[in-house]
Amino acid sequence: MNMLLLYCGIFSAVRGKDKDMSDVKRVDDTWVPLLLQWFSVHCRELPWRGGTRRDPYKVWVSEIMLQQTKVEAVRPYYESWMERFPDMETLAAASADEVLRQWQGLGYYSRARNLHQAVQEVVASYDGKVPSDTAELVKLKGVGAYTAGAIASIAYGRRVAAVDGNVLRVFARLYNIEENILSGAVKKEITDLVDNVMPAACPGAFNEALMDFGAQVCVPRQPHCEGCPLSSHCLARAAGKEAVLPLRLTKKNIPTEDITVVVCTRQRKWLLHRRPEKGLLASMWEFPNAGGAGAEGIGAVTKLLQSVGLSVVVGAAEIAAVKHVFSHKIWRLHVYRAKAVHGHLQAKEDWQWLPVTAYTEVPWAGPHGKITAVL
Ligand code: ADE
Repeated sequence: MNMLLLYCGIFSAVRGKDKDMSDVKRVDDTWVPLLLQWFSVHCRELPWRGGTRRDPYKVWVSEIMLQQTKVEAVRPYYESWMERFPDMETLAAASADEVLRQWQGLGYYSRARNLHQAVQEVVASYDGKVPSDTAELVKLKGVGAYTAGAIASIAYGRRVAAVDGNVLRVFARLYNIEENILSGAVKKEITDLVDNVMPAACPGAFNEALMDFGAQVCVPRQPHCEGCPLSSHCLARAAGKEAVLPLRLTKKNIPTEDITVVVCTRQRKWLLHRRPEKGLLASMWEFPNAGGAGAEGIGAVTKLLQSVGLSVVVGAAEIAAVKHVFSHKIWRLHVYRAKAVHGHLQAKEDWQWLPVTAYTEVPWAGPHGKITAVL
C-alpha cells in the first residue's frame, strides 16, 4: 500500500505553505521530501490507516488508545472496538460499563471514560461531526494539543503539528537541540520548527511519517543512523551527539549549580561583567560571580576580581539568595556585598563600573536582574 500517494498528493507539492510564514526564520527543511519518500516505502500498515479520506472518529479512537500504549498492543483492541462501536452514535449510546469492558486490558481507564463522554458531547452538541479546528478539539474531554493536532492533520489535512515524544526526539537530533525537551519552552521551540517545515500538501502524512520514523529509525537509545535517509541532514550526528540527545531532565534530575555573586560597589557604582558572546545568556551583563557556595565561592570570586586588578573585601553575610530555573539547569545564586579597596580595573572590554542610578540601562542576564530588585 502506498499510503503517501493515497492521501498526500505528489511530492512536488511539498514546498507549498498555506500559513503565512513570512515573519518566521527559515530553517533547513531539505530533509522533508526524503522523510516522505522513506514513509512511502516504510509506513506501517495499521488498521486505522488507509483510504484517501480518514474517518476523524477512527483517528481519534486510535490516538487515544496510542497514548501510553504501544502500537502492537493497541492493534487488537482497536479492531474489536470498531466492531462493537463502528461509529460515534453507537459509542454514544453504549453504557459506561460496556465501554470499560471493551477497554479492559489497555489500562489508563480514564482515557475510555473521557472518550465516551466526549463522543456523547460531539453527537449531542456538534451535530455528530468531530470538529476540525484544534481550538474546538481541545475543548473535548481527554483531547490535548497532541491529539487535536493529530486529528486535525490526519483526518482533515489541517496544517498543524502533533508533537509527541517521537517528534521531540527526531527534531532534537535533526537540529541538535541540546536543551531539555521536557521543558515547555523547548517543546514550544520544536512545535514552531514543525510548523515551519510542515508541507502544505500532506500535513497528516508528514506527522505520521515523523511518528513512524521515530519508532523505526530514530529510536531512543541507539538510533539506526547507518542507512538513515536523513543522516546527512542530522546536526546531532554531525556533532557526534546522536546517542546523547535528546536531553530529558525531570524535576528530580535537573542539576543545580551554586554560584557566589558579589555586588561590588565603589563611589556609588556597581562593578559589572559582560557574559561571553556565545552560550547561555550571551553578551548580557551580570554581577561578578564564580561557581561554588560559602567560603569556596567567596574565594573563587575574590580570585576572579584579583585577576582583573581589583582587591576586594567581601561581606560576611549572604544578603540574598536567588533561584533561577533554566530548561536544563537551576542556578542558586548566593549574593554578598563587597567593596573594592585597592586597584584599578584592568580588563576594560567586558567589565565596567556602572553608576547605580543607570542600572536600568544595561541588558541584564535575567537572574542578575532579579538581584537588582532585592538590593
Ligand atoms: N503513535 C501515536 N499516533 C500514531 C499514529 N497515528 N501512527 C503511528 N504511531 C502513532
